[in-house]
This record gives sequence, C-alpha cells and structure tokens, in this order.
Amino acid sequence: MDRWTRRDLLKTGVAASLGLTLRNALGSALPAVPSQTPDSVGAGPGPRERLLLDFGWRFHLGHANDPAQDFGYGEGTTFAKSGRLFSVSRSDFDDSGWRAVDLPHDWAVELPFQNDNRLKSIGFKPLGRDYPATSIGWYRRVFEIPSGDAGRRISLHFDGVYRDAMFVLNGELLGRNQSGYAPARYEVSDFINYGGKNVLVVRVDATEHEGWFYEGAGIYRHSWLVKTSPVHVAPWGTFVSSQISGESAIVSIATTLENESDRPASCRVLSSVIDAAGHLVGSSRSEATAIAKWNRAEVTQRITVRQPALWSPDSPHVYTAVTTIEADGAVVDRYETPFGIRTILFDADRGFFLNGRRVELKGTCNHQDHAGVGAALPDRLQYYRVERLKAMGSNAYRTSHNPPTPELLQACDRLGMLVLGETRMFSSSEEGLSQFERMLRRDRNHPCIFAWSIENEEPEQGSAEGERIGASMKLLARRLDPTRPITGAMNGGWGKGISAIVDVQGCNYHLPDLDAYHMAHPSQPMFGSETASTVSTRGIYENDTSRGYLSAYDRNAPRWASTAEAWWTLYDARPWLAGGFVWTGFDYRGEPTPYSWPCISSHFGIMDTCGFPKDIFYYYKAWWGDAPVLHLLPHWNWSGREGQEVEVWAFSNVDEVELFLNGHSLGTQKVARDSHVVWKVPYAPGTVDARGYKGGRELLTAKRETTGPAARIGLLPDRTRIAADGEDVVVVEVQVLDSDGRLVPTADNEVAFEVSGSGRLIGVGNGDPSSHDSDKASTRHAFNGLCAAIVQATKQQGEIRLAASASGLTGATIIVAAGTGARRLAVATNL
Ligand code: GAL
Repeated sequence: MDRWTRRDLLKTGVAASLGLTLRNALGSALPAVPSQTPDSVGAGPGPRERLLLDFGWRFHLGHANDPAQDFGYGEGTTFAKSGRLFSVSRSDFDDSGWRAVDLPHDWAVELPFQNDNRLKSIGFKPLGRDYPATSIGWYRRVFEIPSGDAGRRISLHFDGVYRDAMFVLNGELLGRNQSGYAPARYEVSDFINYGGKNVLVVRVDATEHEGWFYEGAGIYRHSWLVKTSPVHVAPWGTFVSSQISGESAIVSIATTLENESDRPASCRVLSSVIDAAGHLVGSSRSEATAIAKWNRAEVTQRITVRQPALWSPDSPHVYTAVTTIEADGAVVDRYETPFGIRTILFDADRGFFLNGRRVELKGTCNHQDHAGVGAALPDRLQYYRVERLKAMGSNAYRTSHNPPTPELLQACDRLGMLVLGETRMFSSSEEGLSQFERMLRRDRNHPCIFAWSIENEEPEQGSAEGERIGASMKLLARRLDPTRPITGAMNGGWGKGISAIVDVQGCNYHLPDLDAYHMAHPSQPMFGSETASTVSTRGIYENDTSRGYLSAYDRNAPRWASTAEAWWTLYDARPWLAGGFVWTGFDYRGEPTPYSWPCISSHFGIMDTCGFPKDIFYYYKAWWGDAPVLHLLPHWNWSGREGQEVEVWAFSNVDEVELFLNGHSLGTQKVARDSHVVWKVPYAPGTVDARGYKGGRELLTAKRETTGPAARIGLLPDRTRIAADGEDVVVVEVQVLDSDGRLVPTADNEVAFEVSGSGRLIGVGNGDPSSHDSDKASTRHAFNGLCAAIVQATKQQGEIRLAASASGLTGATIIVAAGTGARRLAVATNL
C-alpha cells in the first residue's frame, strides 16, 4: 500500500498491542499518550485499522458552467451508468497535469482577493455563481488495497469538505454531502479493487455559502480509510456517560455492535476504563450477545471508578474506554473512546455549575480559519489557538456557527476548555436532522462539550414554526445524548418560539433587556451565547476609515454590540447569568464590519488572525485570569505629536496603578473591578511606565518606550522541537526590532522567508485586516511590528532552518528540530 500514514494505529501506547490477546491488552499498564510518532512502529494490522488518507492527492480546479473545463461534468450522461462516473475516475486517466496536494487543503485561501462587494462577507475571495472558474475543485487519489483485505469491511471517512461534495470510488457514486461541516462516511467494501489500484475522486462545489463569513473551499479536514472485521463496533458506536455518587463514579458504556456478515454472530464485549496515566481502573465483560446477520445489537455495561479524577478546565483529566469485541474466541475489534467524568448543571438563580462548583463561562465564539492556512488547519494549530485563549483566562469556546473539526474538540478535552457545540442548519428536515445527528453521535463523548446549540439568530427563532422545529431537534438530542442541555443563540423573540424548548436561554447581545427578561422568566437559566462584538485593530489607536482600521482602545462596537467592559461588567455582577461568549476570540476572514474593501477580515477578535493579542486581550486577562496583570496602551512612538495629549490606559487587576512619564509621577488611580484606568498625558518621547500596587505593596511594573528605527528581525518559534510526521507545524512570531531589541510598534517592513531542511513554509500572515498580501507567499509585510510564518515538518527527521530577511535590517535564522522525540498533542479519535 502506498503513502498511508499509520497514525491511527499509534494513537496510544496500546495501539502497538493491537495484535495482542485480550488478556495481554488488559493486563498491562496502558499509557494514554503515545511516545511513538507516526510511521515509527511496525505493528501489524489488527482487527481495526484507521488510516490517515491525507497524503498524495492531486487537485485541479473545475468549472461550474463549462463541462469542457469541468472534466466533462454537466454533459448530461454522468449518471447514466453506474460504475462509470467521471472520466477522471478511470484508472488510466493521466493526472500528471494536476497539482500534488496534501490534506487538509483550502483552495479559497490561495485565490487572489477580488474587489467585489458581494464577496465582502466571505473575505473577497472569488467564489460563487459569478466566479465559475474558481468555485469547483476536483480531488483525485489513487491507492492500493491488498488482496488480503477481501472480506474485511472498508469505509471512507471525510471529517469536513466545503461543500456540496460528490464522492466517487472506482466510478461508483458513494454519495453526496452538501454540508460543509458535517462529516461523511461511506461503506465501500463492494467497490474496492482488492489487490489492485483504486481511484477515489471528490468533486467539490463551493459556489454556495452556508454562512456569512469565510468558510474555505475543498477537503479542508482530515480524510480516513477504515478497515474492520465484519463484526465490529458500529460507526460512532459508543456512548459513555457517568454518574457520580459519593467517592465513586458509575461509568455507563453503551456499545452498538454491527454484524455485517451472512452468519449470525455471538459476541462478548470487554470494556475497560483506562486513566490518563495509563492505569486500568475498571472493566466489565458482557454475557454472550447474539447478533443476527446484517444486524445490530446494543450492550450496556456499568463500571465503577473509585475516586474519579474529574474533568474541568483546570484539571482536564481524560479517561479512555477501550472496547474489545470477542467473537468465537477471537478478538474481532478494538475501539477507543476518550471521555471524562464530570457533572454539569445550569441553575436559574446561580448560573453554571461544573462538578458542583459555580463556574462563570468566560467564553469566546470563533470561526475556524487562521492566518496562512485559511480553513485548512494542521492539528497543532487547534492546540495553538486553544492555548492562547487559555492564556487569556478563557474557559469556554463556542463553535459558532457549525460543527467543528474533531481535532479542535480533542484540543479542548486535553487542554481544558469547555465547548458549546453548535450545528449549522436549524431544521427538522431530513437533511437538518441528519447534520445534527452526525454531530451529536460523533461528539457526544467529549468531556469538553457542556451543551448543544441548535441555532443562531434564525428567522424562525421566535415563532411557532421555530418552536416546532426546535422541539424535533430537541427530541433527537435527548435520544442521542440525554446528559447535556440544549440552547439556542437568540438575538430576538426571547420568551417565544424556541425559548419554550431550550433548557438554557442563549442571549445574543441586547444587554439592556437582560434584567427584564430574567424578572419575567425567573426559572429559566440564562447565559450570553454571543456578546461584545467590540471592534479593534492590533496596534492602531485612531479609527482610520480609508485604510479600514479601528482604534484598539476599548471604544468601538456596532449598533447591536458593546465594549468589552460594558458587557463583562454587566454579566459579572449578575450571578443568575452563567457568563457569556465574546464575539470573537480571533479575527477571521470576511465580515469586515464596519468597513468594506480594502478591509477583508473582521475586527471582532480579541486576537488578530495570527493569534497576536490586541490590547483588549489584557482587559480579559486581567478580569478572567488568576494572575496579576498590568498592561499599558498605546505604544509610545508618537513622533510629531510632542506636547499633544495622548490617553494612556492601563488594563490591570491590582488595587492601584501609578503612572510615570520619564520618571515624573502623573498620579495614582484606584482600579474598580472589571474596569480600567486612564491618564491624559502630554506626549514626550521617552518612557511611560506604571507601577501596580496590591495591599499597599508594589506588585507589578509595565512600560512603553519610544523605540529607535527598525534595525533587525527577531524570530520567536512557539516550539523548538516538532514531530517529523508531515503534519506538525511550528508557528513563528516574526518581530521587527530596534537596535536595543525593542519591538518597533509601527514597523511594516517586508520580510522574506527561506525554509530549508526538514520543513516547508505553508503560510504567512500579519493580522492586518486590510492586507492583500498572499497568505501563500514567501514574503510578508510586518503589520505594526509583527508578522507570522507557519512552517510544517516533512516526514524526514532532521533540522528545519528558517531564515528571515528584510531590506535594511539584520536578518535572523532559527533552527527547529523535527524528530521522533516530540509529538503533537493531538490524538486521533474514534469514528
Ligand atoms: C452576530 C452573528 C455573528 C456575527 C456577529 C457580528 O449577530 O451571530 O455571526 O455576524 O453578529 O457582530
């Protein structure tokens, strides 16, 4: 077999024991975190193989209007005969003119920006009916399946394709998935060419938009090939829940078994619970269960875990349920389900409780794109983003407005971040329920998820029709997951429509209406499903309509929105509000509110598209985090404004802050809870510095200095050692510094990158919402002193060398090791 990655087999230390007997597998201490990297262990195939199908694809743009440029699609006979779909499916089709790509892949981010106001919401990328030549993408992948696999069940899994994708294997139509977010799975055993080549083709049509924001285009999440025995755990076939009583937890594991064979089967299910340190903490062996041929059966087991380590954002303890299926004395399947033990409760008077303790939701809503890569994030970037949000003191994430990629949830499970999972389509149609069901089944074992959101600001939200749709969706949610509340992100119609359905009232904006609603509905728990929408640009201190920038003081918000301080002060003072979710944690492409071209990305983020903090980050860090914070804004490079008044703000959670200009005190101010302090300072170059006092003692200092001109480049990698697995990335913060090593806060030098050794540059960015530089270039202008380079490891162990240069500046080089010692935090989920 060519170019498979065996990452799945190696996802835990136990993976190497796939071939072991049942007793061996259970008797050993099982590390939950692997020490091997992909491709490093030669374990033979076990009863289940989950193979990453990301590498070695070919890609070509098609055409939405012209069959001649769309490989004949649309000529009228495509579906006439089964087994003959698409000329490009033929094994002798010459795809050498197609571009070699690896997944995840987003072709939209590669397209040039187009000044067409109809494209504003999606970031001015040319997708849609008027852009037929850039809206269709064809993917082709040839692979071999050994003849020994005949008799096994083989399926293909796509975690996310944007959008309206048609999947064809060896000329057979597998199906069509219109959702750009819900996963698709196809059983393909009948169509496989055993012992020979197989041609998989995916035609992707990104003409339509599902949202009003940048959504990418293409196979932008992972794809997998899964092989099992005929008797196996059904897809997403486990549901683990727990009940805590006293010092113990009863873990219930419901397993759906599937017999895809012509013979009845008799199975035993052995379920074991492994803790994060790899220790077996409980197990259960079922009675023999009969499953008729081509049928399913369900087995529920209860396992007591004594003194369970409870999952929480502060202590994200993840257990693994290992399900082993034994039929006729042989192990026929082995399946892992990461899960957590914790309790959740919403209370109308006191907010949200996790494990019996009140937790204020300090959340952010986010879309899924990132600088340099669009919607196609390597797994490590999910961890990078969650780490940054946690560093700000955030404990919750809303997957607005769509089912997320599984790796985001893995990052949230393992790093400790509560998640509000949201479906894209508010509908009880077959399609709507199917999308919701796929999300529920796939994601319901993640401890991070505390609630399901069925809608966001849908027109039916406050109507009788909305109530009926919501009721049908709730029925499905309750059937598949009775453990979590449902909510809807309503920006109107509160008290009507789906308000009667949801367990928790989600409130988008409308700060002045919250008290009255609570008074009128005192028994309904409430939280801010979406709030703030404060707009600011990193490092900018005056609104600039022509360039499309907004001041980074906490001042600007559209009509429906508020400043950070306004919403948080209000929420924090009301215990019956369970906290809320800021729109948004990170800037994203599209929605450049309140501007349009040349602005191509949003200003809502607390961080920019690269994850560089704006000043407002420190407001949240001060009032959400535990550590003392003292942050001053703006920068102190105001040449030409000598003598003019500059507002200096401090975001801090100390008692008092004293400000100095070039050593002279400008006075001390008390910091009110959830607030900030301001001085009006006549500008003079030099240093503005602050001392923060708590309990009368100086606790912290902060300063801003007038810098010299840009002199050199500084490179700050997020890690110095990454995995040589073809997937892992190092994110490098590129700084423009003066000769004393201080960040020059206005520098916009163009930086050129050169990567050699075991890595390649996969994207660049700078967080400038009006930059039309390509994210896929090898150069990038700095924006207010910073830009970013994302470098991906190849599968070759060795050194990655990144050199950065800019005209007139001293360049810099860093070396990052790509090897086996480091590994991504990501662990493949079960499907
Ligand atoms: C909300 C909407 C979000 C985003 C935001 C901008 O109403 O739910 O998706 O558009 O406004 O403020």
